[in-house]
Amino acid sequence: MPPLTLGVNIDHIAVLREARKINDPDPLMALEICAQNGADQITIHLREDRRHIQDEDARAIIRASRLPVNLECSVDAGIIDIICALRPHRATLVPEKREEVTTEGGLDVKGQRFALDITIERLSAEAIPVSLFIDPDLETISLSKQLGAQMIELHTGRYANLYAMAHTALPYSHHAIEALDLPRSELKRLLERELETLRKAADYGRSLGLEVAAGHGLNYQNVGAVAAIESISELNIGQSIIARSVFTGLAEAVRGMKALCVR
Ligand code: PXP
Repeated sequence: MPPLTLGVNIDHIAVLREARKINDPDPLMALEICAQNGADQITIHLREDRRHIQDEDARAIIRASRLPVNLECSVDAGIIDIICALRPHRATLVPEKREEVTTEGGLDVKGQRFALDITIERLSAEAIPVSLFIDPDLETISLSKQLGAQMIELHTGRYANLYAMAHTALPYSHHAIEALDLPRSELKRLLERELETLRKAADYGRSLGLEVAAGHGLNYQNVGAVAAIESISELNIGQSIIARSVFTGLAEAVRGMKALCVR
């Protein structure tokens, strides 16, 4: 069983800064706090629309971080030029739509096969390992392996939405709108089924020799069952940690999440 590592996504520190377009808070200041409080990796997303992390942030974070930096990006050729120059520890390819609030689903690996093939080849030529952010679907996992990815990250958004609907009064987001009218008992059944889908996907990925990460929508309430999946070796978590840090400080927020990322 691989050990479980925690990647802290610090994009939302830059979201706060960009709200005022000033230099405060600086995501660079998070690096040492994350490292000292249990983070194993720093994750950032250099979006095409640069809504949070800027090129200079990415450059400075990669230079200064003593933890590996996992850089999320789209397959856009201009962005990949920048990633090749930045040389992060790993590139995670994610789908991007400008109008979305966040990354709302995994890559369409089949539909984007050609673009992914070229991108993975370019990054591999620069010795930058590639992870693909995908839905927990066996065919997509198999295709990811064929395309030469070293790692996959399973999208846990549907799990997180179902968890929120089954265990709280809040409808979480439009991801699970199809299930909004269902009774709680049925939501709990769907939640168990989604967990089983994640488990099977993780086991399948590992059986193919892929490293398997997971992320999106994980928080202090719902992370336990995903952390318990033995084939998953890494969780990438952003929103819930940065949100909690507003009230507790970043050190305690990271420490609290790390304590839950055990099995
Ligand atoms: N992993 C990937 C690939 C992501 O794009 C994101 C952000 O959408 C996350 C993990 C972290 O998600 P969250 O901020 O919901 O924890």
